[in-house]
Amino acid sequence: MKGSQANPANHEAPDLAEVPHDLIGSLRTIVGVKNVRTGAGADVDPGQHPDNLGAGIIVSPGSTEEVAAVVQLCRRHGVPVVAHGGRTGLVGGGISRPGEIVLSLARMSRIERLDPVERTAVVQAGVSLEALQVAALEHRLEPGIDLAARGSATIGGMVSTNAGGVMAFRNGVMRHRVLGLEAVLADGTVYSDMTRVVKNAAGYDLKHLFIGAEGTLGIVTRVVVKLDPTPRATATALFGLPSVGAALELIRLALDSEGGQLRAAEAMWRPYIGLAASAHGWAEPGFDLDLPVYLLLAFGGAREEILRAEFERLFVELLERHPETIGIVAGSKRQEEVLWQLREDTDVIYRAYEAAPSYDVSVPLSEIDTYVERILAGLSAIDDDLEPYVFGHLADGNLHIILNRQGPLPQPVAEAIEAVLYADLAALGGSFSAEHGVGSKRIRSLLATADPGKLNLMMHVKDTLDGLKLMNPGKVLPLAPLPAKDSNERGNPSDA
Ligand code: MLT
Ligand code: ZN
Repeated sequence: MKGSQANPANHEAPDLAEVPHDLIGSLRTIVGVKNVRTGAGADVDPGQHPDNLGAGIIVSPGSTEEVAAVVQLCRRHGVPVVAHGGRTGLVGGGISRPGEIVLSLARMSRIERLDPVERTAVVQAGVSLEALQVAALEHRLEPGIDLAARGSATIGGMVSTNAGGVMAFRNGVMRHRVLGLEAVLADGTVYSDMTRVVKNAAGYDLKHLFIGAEGTLGIVTRVVVKLDPTPRATATALFGLPSVGAALELIRLALDSEGGQLRAAEAMWRPYIGLAASAHGWAEPGFDLDLPVYLLLAFGGAREEILRAEFERLFVELLERHPETIGIVAGSKRQEEVLWQLREDTDVIYRAYEAAPSYDVSVPLSEIDTYVERILAGLSAIDDDLEPYVFGHLADGNLHIILNRQGPLPQPVAEAIEAVLYADLAALGGSFSAEHGVGSKRIRSLLATADPGKLNLMMHVKDTLDGLKLMNPGKVLPLAPLPAKDSNERGNPSDA
């Protein structure tokens, strides 16, 4: 996590945090003076969301015991606790307010054990994905999950948001990579299930309560991650295609390949790749950027030459059915990186449109073509200038849609856009939140679309585990109780 080093002068800064002064003193006793930063000191570590550090106080425990002691203390004072990992979230799950404390897991960044025979890693919550990837690679292993924010995203944060990324179509999401975990509950007790085996049918699998709960049911402190063998070689190719149907056909062919194992299938619609290519000054002779959709494929296998040859074979096969297809195969690691940068540096959009509104949907593969056509028409009916940047993890149906608008949008426009993007998604078998979670930004959408039975059960679980509502309040579920409703009503959107 960048900027996580404590500023030695911090404890002399004025306490701008709006929590009781004696609480701050007790927090310093638990975690050490330099690990409580307040006021101006808290600003030295800016989060990506401007309100992440709204609490004005960051407490950084160094162990599960210290996390538990902090939670117990805050509970006695009735002070809410907002857990922070790498602050790479996109839905305001980490925002904090005056009167709360931010509990950063940055100091808990130790890989406690990495066992190449078991193919497991035991890590503290603040370990970054990249640190785990690097450590696992020494044993020719990998965590089986990958995403662009790997340098700052932490394992604890990824568990808490049930992160997805580029390998989900093959390996599942974070939930499927976690064998066991430890979490500090709202009452300061520790839930511990550090199982290191795949099979464990001993009663309710309660670790799943904390995976994807965004810190609202407890704070994940340690995790057992399942590792997989990593291939000896990889290769990457970029294809330009006449339709989504052709892209899905190519994914099917690639999945069926005997020469390589498909590791990623990332789609970029024309407006997105055009922007990314021009931002990075990227162009390849003969590789035009005027086709509807582009697909970045990665293969893993024994030897690069074999994998590159396999891409050539796929290209020829696809060309027979779709003569408009174009393709390039990266001839070196450097070229591979350049192609991946086009897909992963999505900040090019935010540099062009500050705080551009972004959406993260899951659509069943058989519906994607119609879905994209429908939303493009629906958005241009709202405003014919509205041309979204669409890209995402096509092999699992997860699309990211970012508007060519500066955010935030006026509320009525935002609602009209969501009505277009989310219409029928649940009925189609998709989701309005694929991998970014609910946070504070998507509560309205959750209330508007979730089955009432699911919402009731979610609230029941929250009441049971955090009756005082001190764990990351106002995230996932609204702060205020939902009004009584009949089965046709879906709650009160005003808290989102
Ligand atoms: C990605 O896949 O690049 C992220 O999940 C989405 C984003 O950065 O908007
Ligand atoms: Zn993504």
